[in-house]
Amino acid sequence: PNPSTLPLRPPIVTIMGHVDHGKTTLLDTLRSASVAKGEAGGITQHIGAFSVPVAQNSGSSLNSITFLDTPGHAAFTAMRARGARVTDIVVLVVAADDGVMPQTKEVIELVKKDEKLGVVVAINKIDKPGVDSDHIKKALLAEGLQLECFDGHIPVVEVSGLTGQGLEQLVETISLMAEVAELRAERSGPIYGYVLESKVLKGLGPVATVLVLRGELTSGSNLISGVASARVRQLMDSNGKVVKSAYPGMAVTVAGWKELPSAGDEVLRGGSEAEIKKAITNRKRRLEQVVLEQDAE
Ligand code: GTP
Ligand code: NA
Ligand code: MG
Repeated sequence: PNPSTLPLRPPIVTIMGHVDHGKTTLLDTLRSASVAKGEAGGITQHIGAFSVPVAQNSGSSLNSITFLDTPGHAAFTAMRARGARVTDIVVLVVAADDGVMPQTKEVIELVKKDEKLGVVVAINKIDKPGVDSDHIKKALLAEGLQLECFDGHIPVVEVSGLTGQGLEQLVETISLMAEVAELRAERSGPIYGYVLESKVLKGLGPVATVLVLRGELTSGSNLISGVASARVRQLMDSNGKVVKSAYPGMAVTVAGWKELPSAGDEVLRGGSEAEIKKAITNRKRRLEQVVLEQDAE
């Protein structure tokens, strides 16, 4: 199909930055603000992936933004190792009271390598007394980030994940970038995605948070991931609310796995029971082969 006629999908935004610079706090505040707006109910569980609705009065063509937290997701390393580009926009969080640190530099290297990746800098903890955001901006420029405030293209937003200051502006900035990028994906055709997290939940058995990149995930879908397989029994959004289907750009918790899939593994459409059995037997054999080869070394 002509890519420009495919449906728009929400941007996938990954929050990155040095340890303790406030990534999770910032996301928690964004999420509770959107939950407080009455967009969702039910039990909240920390899955490190959630959707923020975009206000429709803004005339935006976007409905929502999907946020992913790091490094809770060891999955990212595995996905990157496969060459997967699951992120559209990186929010680089830099704590104003700590500045550019080793993991900040790692993120800068990552975004420099991928020209298609959108970047927004969030200078965080701006509520702290005596912090100097100009100093941070200069340090980021020295690392080679072309910031808007120095005539570059990378926007900088000053925020506090603790008080919520600047978060609206951060979401607006991300929305604008995503609209310009016009992200589209195929909703028909076979499912393709990645496991962000997996765990066993009481009453539900093995569940996995799946980031959908192509296709439509619904109850009854047959899935395969590594040596695990599922017939989807229930789909839940990040607020624990049961949803009917999940589209590209959405992260959704899937119940119905027979085995626990691994974070970072691909999720593909499974065929009939017999086809799934055969595929899994082949995969297991391949894995055993790898182990045998490693033992022989
Ligand atoms: P890791 O996931 O461990 O890398 O940390 P993180 O980046 O997710 O940071 P986290 O949200 O856990 O916050 C680390 C500490 O900074 C906590 O004590 C937070 O309360 C504090 N903190 C986070 N954001 C802010 C902020 O905007 N202002 C202030 N004053 N403190 C903050
Ligand atoms: Na922390
Ligand atoms: Mg965190």
